[in-house]
Amino acid sequence: MRAACKICAEILILLREQVKPGVTTMALEEFANSEILKRKAKPAFKGYYKYPNSLCCSPNDRVVHGMPTRVPLKEGDILSLDFGILYNDFFGDSALTIPVGTISAGARALVAATEESLYAGIDKAVPGGRLFDISHAVQSYVEAKGFSVVRDYVGHGIGRNLHEEPQVPNFGVPGTGVRLKAGMVLAIEPMVNEGSYEVRTLADGWTVVTCDGGYSAHFEHTVAITDKGPEILTRI
Ligand code: MF3
Ligand code: CO
Repeated sequence: MRAACKICAEILILLREQVKPGVTTMALEEFANSEILKRKAKPAFKGYYKYPNSLCCSPNDRVVHGMPTRVPLKEGDILSLDFGILYNDFFGDSALTIPVGTISAGARALVAATEESLYAGIDKAVPGGRLFDISHAVQSYVEAKGFSVVRDYVGHGIGRNLHEEPQVPNFGVPGTGVRLKAGMVLAIEPMVNEGSYEVRTLADGWTVVTCDGGYSAHFEHTVAITDKGPEILTRI
């Protein structure tokens, strides 16, 4: 898992460096595919429920599962990139939201709160804890900043499959949910809306957008629970 997650993280960092006004998300998809090939890895998402790409590219009011397009990014956009790798029979999954040039103060606050909420959740990924301690930590961090957590999509266990038990919601009651044990690996992935948490899917069957048109941000790490605490496998 460490090897798959390292490849996932390396490529996401390279992708982040390319994001600027004028770049298209299709160019990012093509770049990701060439980096995957170089490392003899496989994309985790392509073919999953017939999803046709390696990357999910979700700008602005897109929440998750946006498709790469030929539309150039523009100054002030925020772009969520979600990326998964299959390598030596194991999966790695990570996401981040990248500012395109200079973004508004409101967008900056949304992106920062989402990333910080991920780390608040990761802090609770310890043996002896409960699953929804993670969920609650994310939710309470986000709501204290005045934003809302998406309910309709959740994080997940990960390993030999991209999605394994348990589901990891970004909201919940602390002290409840399955007992966390060393050896579990979770993809923790807050999806956070500026406005209401309500989302809907576009006619392409994939792209999830906010109902109110507000911006949405997404950060994700694959995290192993160990006796020494959480080990973030997709951070290098
Ligand atoms: N990281 C997302 C997830 O965990 C990506 C799934 S997109 C899909 O669900 F295309 F693979 F479905
Ligand atoms: Co995921």
